[in-house]
Amino acid sequence: MKYISSLSSPVFNRHCGRTLAILGSTGSIGTSALKVVAKNRDALKVVALAGARNMSLLARQAETFRPECLGVLTEEKARELRALLPAGYNPQIFVGQDGYVALATLPETDLILAAQVGAAGLVPALAAARAGKVICLANKEALVLAGNLFRQTCQDSGAVILPVDSEHNALFQAFIGHGGKQVSRLILTASGGPFRTKSVEEIRAVTPAQALKHPNWSMGAKISIDSATMMNKGLEIIEAVHLYGASPSEVDVVVHPQSIVHSLVEYADGSQLAHLGMPDMEIPIGYCLGYPQRLNIGLERLNLAKVGTLTFEAPDLMRFPCLGLAREALAAGPSHPVVLNAANEIAVQAFLDGRITFTGIARLIERMLSNHSLTSVHDLEDILDLDAQTRTRSEEAIGKGEC
Ligand SMILES: NC(=O)c1ccc[n+]([C@@H]2O[C@H](COP(=O)([O-])OP(=O)(O)OC[C@H]3O[C@@H](n4cnc5c(N)ncnc54)[C@H](OP(=O)(O)O)[C@@H]3O)[C@@H](O)[C@H]2O)c1
Repeated sequence: MKYISSLSSPVFNRHCGRTLAILGSTGSIGTSALKVVAKNRDALKVVALAGARNMSLLARQAETFRPECLGVLTEEKARELRALLPAGYNPQIFVGQDGYVALATLPETDLILAAQVGAAGLVPALAAARAGKVICLANKEALVLAGNLFRQTCQDSGAVILPVDSEHNALFQAFIGHGGKQVSRLILTASGGPFRTKSVEEIRAVTPAQALKHPNWSMGAKISIDSATMMNKGLEIIEAVHLYGASPSEVDVVVHPQSIVHSLVEYADGSQLAHLGMPDMEIPIGYCLGYPQRLNIGLERLNLAKVGTLTFEAPDLMRFPCLGLAREALAAGPSHPVVLNAANEIAVQAFLDGRITFTGIARLIERMLSNHSLTSVHDLEDILDLDAQTRTRSEEAIGKGEC
C-alpha cells in the first residue's frame, strides 16, 4: 500500500507559530479544532476562519482568535457578519465558493483544516491540494468524490494530506510508523450507531431526533445520520482505499460499540496494531495540527480498567444496507461513489426534513446507483456535473414518492 501523498513539508520543522485556516470553523470539527488552538496558542495562529450560515458563532470565534480573513456563503451573510464584529476589527470577508478557495490557498497559511460538510468541501480542499498545502482533511466526501484526482494532484504539487477522521488517523499512526510495508489489511472500527441493537421493524420507525443521538460521539447532523445508517463507514472504506492505496478487499469493518479502538492495521505476519483513545475529535485534530509532534490536548486520559470491556462484532448488512451499497459503488467504478454520495446527501436532508423515512435513505441511494452507468470522472468538472445531475434526479424521485 502507498500513502496518498508524501509526508515532507518545511512546515513540519516548525513547532511554533504555525498559521492555520479553518474551513468549516462553525461546525463540530471546526469548534473542536479551535479548542485545540486555544490550548496551544504558541504553536498555532489562526489566520482564516470560514463558516457558511451560523454568523453569530463565526463572529464570536473571530472576536476570540482575530484572524485577518473570514469566509461565508453569501453576500447577505457577509453583511450580517460585519454587523456582528467588534468596532475596530476589520478582517477581509471572502464570499461563496471562490471565497473559500481563496482562503484555502492563502500564501501565508501553513495548514488548512478542511472541515466543511459534504460535497461543498471538495473544491476548496482540491484547491489547497493544487496549491501544495498541508491539508488536515476532515471532509471525507472530498476523497469519496475525487480520490484519484487528489492522489494525482498531491503527486504533482507536493501537497500533504493528514487524515483527521479518527479511524483514518488511527490507521495513519499504525501505518506510517512502519512505512506502510507488508500491510495486509486495514480494519476500520464502527460504533454501530444508535440503532445497532434495533430490529428491522424498529429501524423502519425511527425519527430524526433518535437518529441524531449518537451513543459516543458529538458530531454534525449529516455525519450523525450517516453513522446511524452506517453510510459513514461506507464512505470511510472509500476514503481508506484512496488514502492508503488499498484495494477494497483489503479494507474491513468491525463493529466496536465502545469507540475506544479507533482502527487497526494488520501486517503480513498476522499481527495487528491498534490505536486506542478516548472518543474525542480533539485528539486526531491535535495530532494533525501538531504533526509530527503531539500537542497539549488536556483531555481525560483513557483508563482501560475503568472502561472494563471492549467488544467487537461483525456488521449486519441486512439492517444497515448503506454499508453494502458503498462497497458496491466502490467496486462498480469511479463514477458510482459520486452518485452514492450525492444521493446520500439529498436523502439525509430529506430524512431530516421529514420528507422520507430512515429506510428510504438506502432505497433512494440504491435506486440512483441502479439507474447509473459508469461514466468518465477524470476531471473536476465531470465530477461536479455528475454530482449535480444526481442531486436533481434524487429530488425528483423523492418528489414522486419513489423511496
Ligand atoms: N464531527 C465529527 O466528529 C467528524 C468526525 C470525522 C469526520 N468528520 C467530517 O468532517 C466534516 C465536517 O463534519 P462536522 O460534523 O463538523 O459538520 P457540521 O457540524 O455540520 O459543520 C459543517 C461545517 O461546514 C459549513 N458548511 C455547511 N454547508 C456549507 C456549504 N454549502 N459551503 C461551505 N461550508 C458549509 C458549516 O457552516 P455553518 O454551520 O456556519 O452553516 C460548518 O462550519 C464532514 O465531512 C464529516 O464527515 C466529522
